[in-house]
Amino acid sequence: MIVKMFNLEREHEDIKKDLLRIFEDVLSGGEFIQGKEVRALEESFASYIGVKYAIGVGNGTDAIRIGGLALDLKAGDKFVTTPNTYVASAMALSMQGLVPLFCDIELETYNMDPEKLEDLLKRERDIKLCIPVHLYGHPCRMDEIMGICKTYGVKVMEDACQAHGALYKDRKVGGFGDVAAFSFYPTKNLGCYGDGGIVVTDSEEAYRKAIMLRNYGQTDKHVHAIEGFNSRLDEVQAAFLRHKLEYLDQWNEKRRHIAWFYRKELEDTPLVLPAEAPWAHHVYHVYVVRSKKRDDLRQYLSDNGVSTLIHYPTPIHLQGAYGSLGFRKGSFVNAEQAAGEIISLPMYPTLKQDEILHVCGCIREFYGL
Ligand SMILES: Cc1ncc(COP(=O)(O)O)c(C=O)c1O
Repeated sequence: MIVKMFNLEREHEDIKKDLLRIFEDVLSGGEFIQGKEVRALEESFASYIGVKYAIGVGNGTDAIRIGGLALDLKAGDKFVTTPNTYVASAMALSMQGLVPLFCDIELETYNMDPEKLEDLLKRERDIKLCIPVHLYGHPCRMDEIMGICKTYGVKVMEDACQAHGALYKDRKVGGFGDVAAFSFYPTKNLGCYGDGGIVVTDSEEAYRKAIMLRNYGQTDKHVHAIEGFNSRLDEVQAAFLRHKLEYLDQWNEKRRHIAWFYRKELEDTPLVLPAEAPWAHHVYHVYVVRSKKRDDLRQYLSDNGVSTLIHYPTPIHLQGAYGSLGFRKGSFVNAEQAAGEIISLPMYPTLKQDEILHVCGCIREFYGL
């Protein structure tokens, strides 16, 4: 049996008729960029997250870049994120000349460790922004992070690119920081059919600035108050996304059910299974387990038709792009340990029971169980 890591073809089968109708509607509407569909998605997404404003942009990386600049961050300013996230969490702003610093994670959730954040903010008094990443769909400890950042006068931008619909103590992630960034990359819990992203915020000031930044700093036709970029969301993607948003909670519940099933089948194996903190509602963007024999296990699964991935094999502080920052092996021990042991098993709402049983059966065989 072949079990793919993602299976977008299968996801689309269920909603294909709707998508084709939506495509025809947009086509005959004759408006393709930043029109009524984008405005409608912004309204629906802001209300889904529970914030006042949402700004559709070109992708998740731009959502982070525009979110940071909308908070008045500028070249030379320091920001902190975790080293074990997708490189965009740091690169979106380092490419703008901002300076990334890193804070190690807690191994239970793979997210920013608030104690280590506080140690860093005590030492480095000129950090302007903190970017907690709700990695894999598990929320960060937002009460602690918000409290510490408030004490040290640091702004917060949530990187919620992997956590559409995740809850921290009954509130959606994305509604805690000064701004938050989401990606609509096709494999995300809410994904479109190309690139897309969105910034959300309760701040009218950040909203106004983000609106300008995504469109050449424009306030009116041919009036450019600040410098900006072209990072706009397509009408057709917005229309697809608005339709898919209606299914998001239901799809997240399916992911949670699959996670429950994996746990049931794998609980007695030597694998470290993903934790869900008592205050968290995990949305399992990916299902990440840990094994001391990760590479052998991965090969065994591959030999038996099961695709897996590693999110992520090299922590950002050890990437060549950041060599000049002076970090080395041992700088962030938890992130480095995770990078050597994690493996992401297939996870998507349409994963079938016999496929999960096949994956788990192979893992049990691997361990001789
Ligand atoms: C945590 C995280 N941050 C940022 C991004 C960047 O999003 P995009 O690929 O839409 O630019 C991604 C997605 O790839 C991500 O997973």
